[in-house]
Parts: sequence; C-alpha cells; structure tokens
Amino acid sequence: STNQQWGGRFSEATDAFVASFTASIHFDHRLYRHDINGSIAHAKMLTKVGILTAAESDSIITGLQEIADEIASGKIEWSIALEDIHMNIEARLTDKIGIAGKKLHTGRSRNDQVATDIRLYLRDQINAILFAITRVQQALTELACQEANTIMPGFTHLQTAQPVTFGHHLMAWYEMLERDYSRLEDCQRRMNQCPLGAAALAGTTYPIDRHYTAQALNFDQPTGNSLDSVSDRDFAIEFTAAASIIMMHLSRMSEELIIWTSAQFNFIDLPDRFCTGSSIMPQKKNPDVPELIRGKTGRVYGHLNALLTLMKAQPLAYNKDNQEDKEPLFDTVDTLLGCLRAYGDMIPAIRANRDIMCEAARKGFATATDLADYLVKKGVAFRDAHEIVGQSVAYALKKQQDLSELSLEELQQFSTVITSDVYNVLTLEGSVSARNHFGGTAPSQVIEATNRAQNNLSKR
Ligand code: ARG
Repeated sequence: STNQQWGGRFSEATDAFVASFTASIHFDHRLYRHDINGSIAHAKMLTKVGILTAAESDSIITGLQEIADEIASGKIEWSIALEDIHMNIEARLTDKIGIAGKKLHTGRSRNDQVATDIRLYLRDQINAILFAITRVQQALTELACQEANTIMPGFTHLQTAQPVTFGHHLMAWYEMLERDYSRLEDCQRRMNQCPLGAAALAGTTYPIDRHYTAQALNFDQPTGNSLDSVSDRDFAIEFTAAASIIMMHLSRMSEELIIWTSAQFNFIDLPDRFCTGSSIMPQKKNPDVPELIRGKTGRVYGHLNALLTLMKAQPLAYNKDNQEDKEPLFDTVDTLLGCLRAYGDMIPAIRANRDIMCEAARKGFATATDLADYLVKKGVAFRDAHEIVGQSVAYALKKQQDLSELSLEELQQFSTVITSDVYNVLTLEGSVSARNHFGGTAPSQVIEATNRAQNNLSKR
C-alpha cells in the first residue's frame, strides 16, 4: 500500500529504508505539546473564519487534548511510516474522531506547522534557561557578598598582577551571565512571530486570519513573508550562538575552578559531591563537573557550526534539509540546561581558602603598581616610577622577600621620596581598598555591586 498521507500520487510504497531514513519521529516527538497547541489555535482560527463548524472544532480540540494525555502517559506508539510528529498526531486524531480530523490540515502545511512548533518549543526552553541563569547569578551574588573582603591575586597572563577581592572576581562572572541573559531575551523577542498561514510556502487560498492565530499562541504578530516564514532557521542559529557564548563563559569559569582546586593553587575547595576519585591514584580528587562543562562547550560550538552549515546554501523556501535542525537544537538546550543546573548547585558549595589566597597575593609583588602610584603622588613621573619599582622588585627577588618586607632604608636606595607611609600602600588591604570607584575591586564597591545585582535579580 502507498503512504496514507500522500498515497494518491504514488504508485508504490516508500522503500522501507527510505522511510526510516527520512523519518524524524524518533527525535521530533519532543515537540508534541507545541504541535498540539499550534493545531488547537489553527482549529479555532478555522472555526472563527467559518471553515470548520463549532462541532468539528470541539471534537478536534478534545481529541488533541486526549492525544496529549496519551502521549504524556506513553500510550502512543510512534509510526515510522507516519514520518514525523505532525503526521503521527494527525493520523491518531483521525483514528479517534474520524472525518473532522481530516479537516484540521486545511490551509496549513507541515512547513509552517514545524516552523511554528520549533519557535514555540524554543520560546519555552529559553524561559527555562533564563531561569537557570538567574539561579547561578543569585548564587554568585551571595558568595560575592560573603567574600567581599577576601583578597586574592588578580591575574593577567595568569601571572600575579594586582590584588583583587574574590567577591570582585565572582561579580565579573555575574556580569558575563548578565549579558548572556539579555542576548537570550533579544533572541526570544526576534523569534516571537507566528509562521502559521504561510502554509507550504506561498500562503493559502482560504480566508484565514493570521493575526488571530498569532495572538492565540502568544506571538507578537504573524511573520511578514510566507516564503521566509517556512525556510529560515536563523532564530535557531541565533539561539545556538547565544548558547555557545554562554558555554564559552561557563568554560572559562570552569577553567578557573579547575586551576583553583589544584594542590598548587588550593584557592578553593569543591565539596566531594562535585568531584570523583581515581581508580588507581588514591590521593586524587578530580573536579569532574567543571571539566565536563568545559568539554561540553565544544559540543555546543559544534551544533552552531552544524546549523550554520545546514542553512548556508538553501534556496527559498522549505527544504528537507531543515529537518536536521532539531537534533543540534535539542542537544544544545539539554546541554545548556544541564550545565547551568550544575553551576547553580556548585557555586554555593565553593569554600574559599582565604588565607591561602591572600598569601598568594602577598608573594607575587601584587602591590608593585601601588608603589609606582605612590611615587607619582610624591611628584615622580610615572615612567620613572615604573623603573624605580622595577629595580626594587629585582632587589627583593634576590633577597626572596616581598616589597612590604624591605626596610625603609632599603627602599630609599631606589628613591629618596619614599617615607614610612609607604607601608600603607604596600599592604594588600590598602591596595584593594584604594580602588574605590564604581566597578572597582574595593570591598565596599563589591558590596555595592552585589546590591545592584540583587536589585536587578529581584525584578525578574
Ligand atoms: N519533519 C519535517 C521537518 O522537520 C516537517 C516538515 C516536512 N515538510 C515537508 N515538506 N517534507 O522539517
């Protein structure tokens, strides 16, 4: 027998391998709720414009709602012959309610249907992701508040540069996630237009009301061009690009956590529940969770590349290529939600080894810039001050001492303007609290930053 959905034109059945090769039901069944919601809105619109009777509409809607329950409770067996979620649901509907089920697809194509389903799906998933980002930001803000006075080395080139507070470092992560949040909101806003009514590509001859359907599904408006509506997956690419940037940020954070938990740094402890041991080396406690997140970043970048490449040479309008958009997209969503969840759990569990962090800052000449600034304030030109401090550091290195451990006489060998007040700027506490401006590392500024953040998060 030929295919029940388009058998009319065909003289032989689809090859069995081709049927399974072209089927998408094994992954697109994930869209079932959104597909059903889209169909209900479409049925209501058809009723409103007089294409379906109220009775037909009622039986379609009830039937679809029952199908949603059947699917949720695992009662439906997917058919490969029915190719995808759209036809599986439609066939089940017709089984249940008969002729009215066959009328649902009036004025519609799977092309506008799937374009709608993915948007509805992604819109929901973005909400879940935004929520997960907020949870991580909340945790960061709380930890930053606790660690506002904790001094650590700030790095450039991964070499000790200047002292910073741990709270300030955590709030840098918060800012990264804040931009990620707004990128997703932008993407969601641009995506929120309804393709239904574009039909296969050219629109439809029925007197449909696209504004009605768009509104029923909470879209801002119908899409503006039928050809574009069914063909472009730029919104999925944009989402995956935003997801890639989030993963890039999580990967950088992970890299730091991994470095900080190493015995050589020992800046922080991650509780055992986020780590695993080694089957051979009894002493090992490995930071698996951040490592895995760093690794999963590559996977999401791969999905971005897959989607860009999928789209790049497609002529208007719909092409079957687009069926390949779903697996990368679904996996991006799953990966991102998993990683964000892990971060939301992990951040509150971080324990700072405050003394070790502070000691590391003390050892690395982190206040050398402060000494240069001190000289400048006493009238030395900055370039000369830089040279003087460089010489002092070289001297201290030879003696294996920190600048603050040199005597006044020793320091005065390099510049006579140095007096005993120099020790105020050579301390780590003096150094961080002097950077007391908006966005600076001073503990009071970190507290301000966490207050602003809390206020921002409370409005979500
Ligand atoms: N399963 C298809 C997809 O995901 C639905 C659209 C199929 N349209 C078609 N003309 N073959 O893209």
